[in-house]
Amino acid sequence: MKCRALNMSGLNVQSIVIPGLALILISQTDLSTAHAHEGHVHEPVKVADEEAHRPSAIPDRIILTWSGDPATTQSVTWRTDDSVARGLAEIAVAEDGPNFVSKSKSVIAETTSFKSNLGMAHYHSLTFSNLQPKTMYVYRVGDGVNWSEWSHFTTASHEPQPFSFVYFGDAQNNVKSLWSRVVREAYSDAPKAAFMLHAGDLINQANNDAEWGEWFYAGGWINRSIPSIATPGNHEYSRRRGEGSLLPKNMLTAHWRPTFAFPENGPEGLEESVYWIDYQGARIISLNSNERQKEQIPWLEQVLTENPQPWTIITFHHPIYSAKAGRDNPEQRALWQPIFDKYRVDLVLQGHDHTYARTGQMAYNNVPEGAANRSPKAGTVYVVSVSGPKMYDLGRRPFMKRVAEDTQLYQIVTVDGAKLRYEARIATGRLYDAFTLNKRIGQTNELIEQVPDAPERRRNAKAASLR
Ligand SMILES: [Fe+2]
Repeated sequence: MKCRALNMSGLNVQSIVIPGLALILISQTDLSTAHAHEGHVHEPVKVADEEAHRPSAIPDRIILTWSGDPATTQSVTWRTDDSVARGLAEIAVAEDGPNFVSKSKSVIAETTSFKSNLGMAHYHSLTFSNLQPKTMYVYRVGDGVNWSEWSHFTTASHEPQPFSFVYFGDAQNNVKSLWSRVVREAYSDAPKAAFMLHAGDLINQANNDAEWGEWFYAGGWINRSIPSIATPGNHEYSRRRGEGSLLPKNMLTAHWRPTFAFPENGPEGLEESVYWIDYQGARIISLNSNERQKEQIPWLEQVLTENPQPWTIITFHHPIYSAKAGRDNPEQRALWQPIFDKYRVDLVLQGHDHTYARTGQMAYNNVPEGAANRSPKAGTVYVVSVSGPKMYDLGRRPFMKRVAEDTQLYQIVTVDGAKLRYEARIATGRLYDAFTLNKRIGQTNELIEQVPDAPERRRNAKAASLR
């Protein structure tokens, strides 16, 4: 490639004179040059991770999250190289023209020095506070000289109001190459989504900086305007010593806390992986299914007891009802599901099994094995989904209302008063699964199945016929 480029630049003097002929000249000369250097054409060389993901003084990996109330606060985190000692942001109420710039206020960030397997970086994090609810703001981040572009975000209402969010199962592998299209299709379907929820395994190797770089590449500027909520998967935990770092195994990735600013309202030691956020009538809870599951129960009971929101949605990584044979989690089910039942949790969003499986209403010890038509009329709806390219085979169980194999999906969930509408969409945008939950005062939810009339996506017809 280098030889060809060298020769092309050598003939540019000639080719500029007659623009119409330029392409032909280049083409002919280039071909003859390639021929003359036959045997000397260099093979393409992969750009090293250190170079491809090297930070600079210009902010990158910018992401909105919440560490406080979405109606009055907004957190933002970004990365620079370690030459940037002080990060700051500017913020104003968004206006129709550019005059907001002169009205903007500065906020100083907290800066963390971070050594990844690729080198040093600085992560900067701050929370805009005392914001007005239901208001569009415009902000940028930088060091006072090198700035990001101005981006919008909109604060939530304090009251229950209709909103949608996007839920992704595991992205995990080939994230830049094969997950980017899913995020972008989801954005094109739900550009006004209140947030994007990631149910763990955002990346494959917990402390691999290049993979985190790919995750940010895929989300791109969408992460700058739509906040993210994420729960850690097993791949956010280092599996062996020395995997991209010197950290001990079975520890949450060192990237997690510098990268995201999630609430610290969880049990001690599980801050930012176990937390809750209230958004316009829904309480969103992240549990950590990787460690100390039992210790999370008293905290969860308290959070559910004090929950003033009509809707409760919980996310964690390892599913209560596994979608793959041999991966069932009976201990986790015994620990957590009775609590979900007691407090009538509406919806649980999970990952881990790299297939799609959505249940009807499920309650603990009321699993209608082998009796699809005897599903209970009360309980929580459980979803396992996958958004990235890694695919497992499915272990179908009778209570699964809709399943898929070898399919990348994203979900759009809309909460509107007493209705919750759920849609699972294939990476190409087609509707694949849907239901509505109707909240009834003093009663259990009514589940209305709205599965579209499209064939079940299975690896082979025989598997599909065994449903
Ligand atoms: Fe996974």
